[in-house]
Amino acid sequence: MSRIEQPQPAPSSEQAGPRLETARLILRSWHPSDIPALLEGLNDFSVAKWLAFVPHPYTLEDAGRWVEHCKSAAGKPGSPAGYEFAIELKSERKAIGGVSLRQISPVHGTAGGGIWLSARYHGHGYGSEAFGEKIRFAFEDLQLRRLDNGFFKGNGASLAMQQRFGYKVEGERRQAYRCVADGELKDEVLTGLIKDEWKKG
Ligand SMILES: CC(C)(COP(=O)(O)OP(=O)(O)OC[C@H]1O[C@@H](n2cnc3c(N)ncnc32)[C@H](O)[C@@H]1OP(=O)(O)O)[C@@H](O)C(=O)NCCC(=O)NCCS
Repeated sequence: MSRIEQPQPAPSSEQAGPRLETARLILRSWHPSDIPALLEGLNDFSVAKWLAFVPHPYTLEDAGRWVEHCKSAAGKPGSPAGYEFAIELKSERKAIGGVSLRQISPVHGTAGGGIWLSARYHGHGYGSEAFGEKIRFAFEDLQLRRLDNGFFKGNGASLAMQQRFGYKVEGERRQAYRCVADGELKDEVLTGLIKDEWKKG
């Protein structure tokens, strides 16, 4: 379960994902040169308050640890348990956020994951574009059949973004997290998408 938990250390068997491309975006692995973009995006309470494990303030050390973690996980052999993608905006050749596919279970055909974008890039459809490509990758390339997600209660942007792809609200976990950014207890709304109900956007 990881939908709102970015960024956090992933299991050691996780690898960086392949390079995926949409009209305006490239989904690719994280590099040290992305550290300024990580700081711009995550050292911002308006973003961190919707994520479970992002400290506030978010420091250079936090960003460096994240990139290092992704790099070392990518070098590990074996079938990946997840993918951590930087979302690069082609027109600016810079990372504007992150999207993940985590806890991949080939046995059950399921996975979780999450997404965030730097605040100045909200509201331009980039979130939907990246999230949609993540879903396509999961269902078409990895042949999964169900995706789990969720969001802190009150996150209208996340709900709207998920609903456009067919995610349904499936329940609620009261006080499921103590958000690291503000120390507050947060209720989580649980969502899920079955491949048969996937709306391609
Ligand atoms: C959630 C997030 C990734 C969405 O990315 P985005 O690029 O801003 O979203 P889009 O422009 O693709 O819009 C997606 C939908 O959300 C709607 N939306 C955008 N901002 C909204 C808001 N503040 N309240 C309600 N709906 C909103 C859009 O109208 C659109 O709906 P539509 O498809 O019906 O038109 C982005 O807001 C974000 O990073 N937020 C902070 C971190 C976060 O909440 N991550 C998710 C944790 S579960």
